[in-house]
Amino acid sequence: MNVKHIPMSYKQILRHFFRSTFVSFFPNSVILRKLSFYPIEKTVDFKKSRFFQTRNDLYRYVNGTLLDNCAINYLEFGVFKGETIEFWSKLNNNPASNFVGFDTFTGLPEGWDSRGLPQGYFSTNGIAPSIDDGRVSFVKGLFQQTLPPFLASFKPAHRLVIHNDSDLYSSTLFTLLSLHPFMVNGTIIIFDEFNDVLDELRALLDYSSSFYINFEIVAHTAHYTQVAVLLTKNAAIYPNAAR
Ligand SMILES: C[S@@+](CC[C@H](N)C(=O)[O-])C[C@H]1O[C@@H](n2cnc3c(N)ncnc32)[C@H](O)[C@@H]1O
Repeated sequence: MNVKHIPMSYKQILRHFFRSTFVSFFPNSVILRKLSFYPIEKTVDFKKSRFFQTRNDLYRYVNGTLLDNCAINYLEFGVFKGETIEFWSKLNNNPASNFVGFDTFTGLPEGWDSRGLPQGYFSTNGIAPSIDDGRVSFVKGLFQQTLPPFLASFKPAHRLVIHNDSDLYSSTLFTLLSLHPFMVNGTIIIFDEFNDVLDELRALLDYSSSFYINFEIVAHTAHYTQVAVLLTKNAAIYPNAAR
């Protein structure tokens, strides 16, 4: 189904128009900026976060400065054609690193209302990308079906980097909750569409508030689209979370 044929609610149209048109035409307008990003800036603290122009710059900072190109267990949720997992596998060339990408490869399991995208959008007709790197592998299927058996034998030996680009509230929340037992202080979570307040951002807030998890935003791109989060667990509740 072509996305152009999907009806969008007035609210969605207004939101898209506001963000993509007004804010782009008047990027220096403090009032427009404040109005558009008020819900995000009100909920999340960006004071210590570093700004990057592109998501690739943000990835370079995370891998180079925060991780020092150390060995990582990189889990990517939402692969599509493999652009970001391939970028990360080239960026972090530590031979001990390991990259696993999860996706249905038949597209979004439900419509992404915030963007007006239908179920099935981002389908690659069931085909996972081909990446010529033995450290990279893919798990095909719905996270809700594939992640529990994967985690049953998952023993992360290195710093955990979770890259969530699954867009949806349901997918993001499910992933965060499932990975909770594996998260320790210093786990990095990258979000790709953080500024859709009802999806990835909401999932992080719901996870962190219900599990008493602390997080710090350490890097972000324009309009808070991509963010990198450093996670810490409350020591009184999670005494084994220290790295
Ligand atoms: C925006 S695309 C990923 C793009 C990719 N990271 C990139 O930029 O190269 C989002 C993907 O998330 C996948 N996805 C979302 N929810 C999912 C779920 N519950 N299970 C499996 N895949 C899911 C979709 O199939 C889609 O391919």
